[in-house]
Amino acid sequence: MKAAVLHDVGGVPKYQEFPDPVAGEGEVIVEVKAVAVENVDKMVAAGRHYASGQFVGQLPAIPGFDGVGTLPDGALAGFALPRPPYGALAERTVVASDHVGPIPDGLDPVTAVVLATAVTGMSIKTAAGFVPGETVLIQGATGVAGRLAVKVARLLGAGRIVGTGRDQEALAEVRTLGADATISTAVPDDVLARAFTQARGEGYDVVLDFLWGRPTEILLSTLVPDSFGFPKPTRLIQVGESAGPALTLSADSLRTSGVEIYGASKGLNAAAMGEVYGQIVRWAQAGQLTFDTETVPLSQIETAWQRTDLRGRRLVVVP
Ligand SMILES: NC(=O)c1ccc[n+]([C@@H]2O[C@H](COP(=O)([O-])OP(=O)(O)OC[C@H]3O[C@@H](n4cnc5c(N)ncnc54)[C@H](OP(=O)(O)O)[C@@H]3O)[C@@H](O)[C@H]2O)c1
Repeated sequence: MKAAVLHDVGGVPKYQEFPDPVAGEGEVIVEVKAVAVENVDKMVAAGRHYASGQFVGQLPAIPGFDGVGTLPDGALAGFALPRPPYGALAERTVVASDHVGPIPDGLDPVTAVVLATAVTGMSIKTAAGFVPGETVLIQGATGVAGRLAVKVARLLGAGRIVGTGRDQEALAEVRTLGADATISTAVPDDVLARAFTQARGEGYDVVLDFLWGRPTEILLSTLVPDSFGFPKPTRLIQVGESAGPALTLSADSLRTSGVEIYGASKGLNAAAMGEVYGQIVRWAQAGQLTFDTETVPLSQIETAWQRTDLRGRRLVVVP
């Protein structure tokens, strides 16, 4: 079969022949129909992800740990965690039989494979207990996940949505998607700090953070009050690290600001995930949750993998 094959950690996968997978006991072969290439796939392949050893510990290997494909009975299904060295970026892959789930009627493979990213937007509810009317700040709103989160926050009834990003054109697009205000993070620290303070209205109830690093460090510093009192809580959900894997958390910003920091997986279990995914699918089927994609054939993986011009569009590879 044809596959995207990674030969070196940190290298670029090449389109070439790879032995067909053979299903063992409790496994199933999936004919792959669509795979979204995300930052996390590149981090894994570059050896910069905590699970890199699991997927690229043995090379050559095929990157990609989830996607959409058809099962031997022809049913369309989402799949996750192929058995290494097999990955999603191939004509066929092999996964444990309980690592596949049905794709609801009416969703094509490309839509279905991108839609999973909207689960991160739902973490304002599952992890932070968001209630309608609250003010939500989305750090990294110009990205694929951030744009979906702006729409999800609007659909869930946010009172005010503030989105950040660096690209001015993309920030204007984010306002058309439902943000009430946007902030550029591509400014000096003091200007960014003022922008966070000016845009917060009565205060940020929930922060959905795809950035971490410098912008979030500055945000946290602005939550420190300038007098004694009882601060309003701000629930910050950590989802991504596009601006950096670490930040300095000053003691006073945690002690005095009312900030509470959670990981995006808080509140998610199989039942909650099913409920969240069901809601996302209903919005997509009703045309309320849309997104932009760039679809490329598997044969173009080498150039597609290195693209940096996608500006809020998700790269989807179709074998
Ligand atoms: N935990 C999960 O389940 C999950 C799921 C999806 C994504 N994520 C993570 O969330 C993050 C965003 O994912 P995505 O798919 O939306 O990525 P994306 O489409 O590439 O968007 C990246 C976002 O980060 C901003 N950004 C990039 N580099 C930056 C830097 N050095 N400083 C400040 N801002 C920067 C971009 O701003 P501009 O475009 O305006 O420059 C954009 O808003 C990634 O870390 C990803 O791994 C996590």
